[in-house]
Amino acid sequence: MCGIVGYLGNANRNGVDVILEGLTRLEYRGYDSAGICFRNEKSELLTIKSVGKVQNLKSLLELNKNRPISNMAIGHTRWATHGEVAEKNAHPHVNGKLAIVHNGIIENLYELKSYLQAEGVQFSSDTDSEVFLHLTYKFFNSGASLKDAVIEAFKLIKGNSAFLVIAHDLQEMIAIKRVAPLVIGRNSYQSEVFVSSDPFALIGYADQLLFPEDEVVAVLTLEEEPQFFELNGAASKRFSTQNQQMHYSDLGKGSYEHFMQKEIFEQPLLIKNWIHHYLEGQGKKSVEELTKLLSIRPEKIGRIHLVACGTAWHAALLIGDMIERTSRIPTNVQLASEFRYKNPILHANDIAIFISQSGETADTLAAQELCKRADLFTLAIVNVANSTLYRNSHFNLLTHAGIEVGVASTKAFTLQVLTGYLFSKILKEREGFDRNQFKHNVYELLQNMERGLDRAGEIAAIASELYSKKGFIFTGRGPYFPIALEGALKIKEIAYVHAEGYAAGELKHGPIALIDEEMVNIAILGSELFEKTLSNMEEVRARKGIIFAIAPKEFSEVRPRLGNHDFYFPLEYGKEVDLNPLYVSTLMQLFSYYVAKMRGTDIDKPRNLAKSVTVE
Ligand code: AGP
Repeated sequence: MCGIVGYLGNANRNGVDVILEGLTRLEYRGYDSAGICFRNEKSELLTIKSVGKVQNLKSLLELNKNRPISNMAIGHTRWATHGEVAEKNAHPHVNGKLAIVHNGIIENLYELKSYLQAEGVQFSSDTDSEVFLHLTYKFFNSGASLKDAVIEAFKLIKGNSAFLVIAHDLQEMIAIKRVAPLVIGRNSYQSEVFVSSDPFALIGYADQLLFPEDEVVAVLTLEEEPQFFELNGAASKRFSTQNQQMHYSDLGKGSYEHFMQKEIFEQPLLIKNWIHHYLEGQGKKSVEELTKLLSIRPEKIGRIHLVACGTAWHAALLIGDMIERTSRIPTNVQLASEFRYKNPILHANDIAIFISQSGETADTLAAQELCKRADLFTLAIVNVANSTLYRNSHFNLLTHAGIEVGVASTKAFTLQVLTGYLFSKILKEREGFDRNQFKHNVYELLQNMERGLDRAGEIAAIASELYSKKGFIFTGRGPYFPIALEGALKIKEIAYVHAEGYAAGELKHGPIALIDEEMVNIAILGSELFEKTLSNMEEVRARKGIIFAIAPKEFSEVRPRLGNHDFYFPLEYGKEVDLNPLYVSTLMQLFSYYVAKMRGTDIDKPRNLAKSVTVE
């Protein structure tokens, strides 16, 4: 949560513009407020903040007749934790001499705040972040260098955070982090340096990226290469370097109205690239290495833990099911926020798989750390290369979903499940991994998905009949149960309407009480246990609930009408196809997209959410 961005450069570029562009790209991390602090030619720190999206901040700056120009600036886009959404709580926090931006949480806030208040410090916000400003200033004001002041302040705080600090009388930026993401950017053609929470903000600005490890302080000036130090002041080599791999083409939404819409429709192409990558391209190496790693006999593997949050947890449920069905190895699928505190039973012969789009989700990272301490082999199914999860894993399978801008996860989910499917097949078949059969299965999904997306108009028409209803209960059995959970999450987060995902057989154990003429049951009928799910649907019909049935085509011949609205898909009864749930999930993504559009919500940036959840 929260995005931080910083710029220090020469006169060829206006730092204020860099910050505004960076904040726009980081807005997915939070959009409660945005702010910028820049140093002017008189060495004063000037701050402009506004509540709401970055556009509000831009408009404020445009109103300013003398558009500010600066060669050193920092900015922040906020997802509120401490303190309401208000201008006073927006970052940067500034005291005239120093300015800071912060992403994360200071856990010992109250203790430090009382200590500072007892020393006469006045606070002007309700944030935890302001504590860091005053602590740093206390050391800086007593003669410490800015770097040492940041180190001393950082040593006092608890919790996971990234900070960026500037001073009015210095041409330098100091950055430090614990767990929260932080990247430093350089380019080969100009003397300038950038800081960001995500390399995405640095596309087009920086071609070289440096990733400091935890508790390494970075000193950034124009005179020297970035310098790194340990908390004891010694020079540090704990950082990694990488070339920027993202491109301008990753930035736009093309002819689509929303990023979410674009991301739904680009799934077939991504799947095509994904299969090429793993079977014929550079990913072949990962497949070979994984085959080697898993070539131990299945009985030697204890359990496979699959840990994730939100949508990625739904992917984990599906992948766990795939592993158990094919390899009969027991799996333990857990929400990272629960797993990390439940003292899980872990054995050294277990494998732990972490699934994440961002690779920065705080709970998932903590769960990974726990497993590493218990000596488990850890594998990440992750979209963002070089994210913290990626860097900390023993082995990575990248999902190659590209940049997902829409806060609601769509393509990332599909590619997480596909990548888990690849894992499950290699685990089962090992040396005998049947690439042709695998490719055939994935292509079958690809073609069905293309045909399904061609029928988006039908889904939109159903959404237009249902969008104003009171609530939605998604039901499914087996692999369609996680799809029901995911369908409900999607519609909740982007359409702001109450929705639940249930195993179809569970309905009568409570939620059926919710059924009336205003409640919609989205009944997903797979090819297995069709009759059972059908009976559950009838129970809803008997109570006057509205039914939107999604079912194998074959049944249109037996029962021309299943629900009030039907959508038949090409699947033979009794012949479940491994990847069909992903096809149905695409239909659910479309449905929630259209419902949200008809309800007029902010689809790409739904209220109260942030794409990357870096606090627990
Ligand atoms: C889903 O649409 C969400 N935005 C959210 O549940 C997300 O999947 C979750 O926060 C996990 O994020 P990650 O994949 O980046 O770890």
